[in-house]
Amino acid sequence: MMKNTFTEEVEDRYLAGTYQKIPVVAARARGTKIWDMNGKEYLDFMSGYGVAIFGHSNDAIREAIKRQLDEIYITHTSVYSPARARFLGELMKVTPTGLNMAYLSNSGAEAIEAALKIAVKSTKRKKIISMEKAYHGKTMGALSITHSAKYRKSFENMLIPGVEFVKFGDYEGVLALLKKEDVAAVFMEPIQGEGGINLPDPQFLASVREATSSYGTLLVMDEIQSGLGRTGKMWAHENWGVAPDVMTIGKGIGGGIPMGVTVGKKEFVETLEIGEQSSTTGGNPLSCAAGEVVIRELRNGIMRQAGEMGKYVLQRMKEETDSHRLVSQSRGIGMMLAMELRVRFVPVLMDMISRGLITLYSGINTIRMLPPYTVSREEVDRAIDIMKAALDHHLKNQ
Ligand SMILES: Cc1ncc(COP(=O)(O)O)c(C=O)c1O
Repeated sequence: MMKNTFTEEVEDRYLAGTYQKIPVVAARARGTKIWDMNGKEYLDFMSGYGVAIFGHSNDAIREAIKRQLDEIYITHTSVYSPARARFLGELMKVTPTGLNMAYLSNSGAEAIEAALKIAVKSTKRKKIISMEKAYHGKTMGALSITHSAKYRKSFENMLIPGVEFVKFGDYEGVLALLKKEDVAAVFMEPIQGEGGINLPDPQFLASVREATSSYGTLLVMDEIQSGLGRTGKMWAHENWGVAPDVMTIGKGIGGGIPMGVTVGKKEFVETLEIGEQSSTTGGNPLSCAAGEVVIRELRNGIMRQAGEMGKYVLQRMKEETDSHRLVSQSRGIGMMLAMELRVRFVPVLMDMISRGLITLYSGINTIRMLPPYTVSREEVDRAIDIMKAALDHHLKNQ
């Protein structure tokens, strides 16, 4: 792999070492493809960690951003903005019934912070239930409900108290805590992303929905990774016929411009008073202009494409890679996919990158993929060929 020494050297010298870097310098991108400084082409199944849901450099989003740049691209949310109003109007067409008041921020973790405040303020309770293997972000509040010891260990004594973790799927565990404590909220990702693309047991979401309602506890769905059409439905929780009281949205919602959204039932969200939550750039007109297009395009059918193409990718993986000696299982729904290996993922993932396929990962042995919903069959087939070649190569060199 050729190195663009300047870019890599400067980043490695000056950037905080909090990211596991991969040896790719992204110079240009379009659709599912990224090109590096030397013109080498990659299929991007990482999509900026699930942000480029329509692929890179989407025409409609670019046009909306350009238009907004010419009008006005920053106003604080204390000032009214037509772009913000248009975005909110579009958002409310797709939120679950009754979730009709939103707080706008800049990232997923910020959306979670606001959800925590809404839960605590509206219920006047302090306990939170979260799930084992949950990932909700790395700011202190979000980290407090994130499960991984790797992320928590250096800050454990600074995290918010009163958080209990229950196995994802353990309804009895949730119920026991609801009975015992005054729980403000149950937080969960309907499908765990960072935890390894873990789908819930069929009855779990509905049972927790019923129990939280009867104990006056809020159900908060973190749809930051699983939402916005990724599973073929607008929100992943719809796959199990439930609706939350509060929901967090992030990643692709701003079309690549940073944005986080916390949306909930008015009776809960309105308990936050002036000044109790704010952000200088949250709700800026640029992210709102892009976000309006994102939702409109999803409603126009791209969402269905994610569901259908997801079935194709999973079927191809089951046919082509599941029988490989290094693979234990592939799983997923829509454009949220994982290939669990019997070995550590690092050498296989690196080999796939060198062959032109960028993915992400979970834990120590899972390759994770969040491809753009617009990925073509030909691109999927090429990605499968690369996966097979990398697996074969690793098997031979073990
Ligand atoms: C489910 C979920 N919640 C929260 C976050 C945090 O979002 P951000 O990295 O934008 O803070 C992520 C990011 O991967 C996520 O997948």
